[in-house]
Amino acid sequence: MAVEQAFEVDAICQADSVALLNGWPGEWADLVFADPPFNIGYSYDVYKDKKPYDEYYRWTEAWMAACKRAMKPNGSFYIAIGDEYAAEVRIIGQKLGLTLRNWIVWHYTFGQNTQAKFSRSHVHIFYFVCDAKDHTFNDEQLRFPSARHTVYNDKRGNPLGRLPDDTWNEFPRVCGTFKERAGWHGCQMPEGLLARIIRASSNEGEVVLDPFAGSGTTLATAVKLGRRYVGIDISPEYVKQCQARVKEAAAVRAGSLKHEPAEELDWPVLHEEALVQLYRDTKVSVESLETIEPARRCFVLCLKERTGKVYDEQAVIAKLQQLAQRAVLPPGTAMARNNGKTSKGNGR
Ligand SMILES: C[S@@+](CC[C@H](N)C(=O)[O-])C[C@H]1O[C@@H](n2cnc3c(N)ncnc32)[C@H](O)[C@@H]1O
Repeated sequence: MAVEQAFEVDAICQADSVALLNGWPGEWADLVFADPPFNIGYSYDVYKDKKPYDEYYRWTEAWMAACKRAMKPNGSFYIAIGDEYAAEVRIIGQKLGLTLRNWIVWHYTFGQNTQAKFSRSHVHIFYFVCDAKDHTFNDEQLRFPSARHTVYNDKRGNPLGRLPDDTWNEFPRVCGTFKERAGWHGCQMPEGLLARIIRASSNEGEVVLDPFAGSGTTLATAVKLGRRYVGIDISPEYVKQCQARVKEAAAVRAGSLKHEPAEELDWPVLHEEALVQLYRDTKVSVESLETIEPARRCFVLCLKERTGKVYDEQAVIAKLQQLAQRAVLPPGTAMARNNGKTSKGNGR
């Protein structure tokens, strides 16, 4: 297939990823996040998600190799995949010379109910790097207070907090009732999950590639976090919608950067998002943070790493209380966020 679109950063292209990436120069992406169709018969607008095993396997080899070619030698490569092809993706990664750093399991709430077997409630996320010794991993951007701080009130806990486990259960699937739901794509990933990956494995100004852009979650999150992006999707309609979503994300970032809080509870939107994510990671109540001093202190330090700003401890508690009142905060369990409502899943 001929390549018609010249290589350009901060662009979303309508194309077949393999053909486009192989026609472009190599070694420009700092981070790749790929969430391909899982070959389970899901309905997309132009792509048919049910191929014979060999065909899907060969296609997986082709797009993984095309992404690897696009990556800088110190780049990172995350791949989301279902049970059906997880083993294959792991082996193809090895054959391509990638190093597996983590085999992450994203355990989500609000999976689709099944009738005759256990309901699907997880996705595998492979975290590969090209170079086992030279890659970006911004651990300080991910840390949160540990149980030493939050449960045992122990001042000996690492003041910088701890890193998340490789089982991620902080991110419910994006359901119909969620504010962030774009609504026109059934496989939308949560922005919080992408934010964790983008913060961990790239720096501001670096380039994030998503070869299966879908609803544009990766690209919108990258823009909000000050990264550059390249997105590809085979669907003209998805690309059009994605471009609008990314434009909105750019407006959020611009607003957040020039936002000067007029009063204590008036935070830039991106700081508010970072606070909610840190609270979700920490998994304790606002009351615990208010009363347990080592937890509160560590929480504020972690927030400083994520926002670049030092917030006063009492201001952080007051902001959390305000968000809890506005029902923006996940109150203890993810269930409560959605008031127990269910919505139609995509079966992935
Ligand atoms: C699982 S969805 C990605 C969802 C995305 N992570 C999100 O959060 O919205 C997979 C996407 O891959 C696209 N796709 C399928 N085959 C493709 C190809 N050969 N090249 C580019 N995109 C393709 C589909 O149109 C679909 O939007």
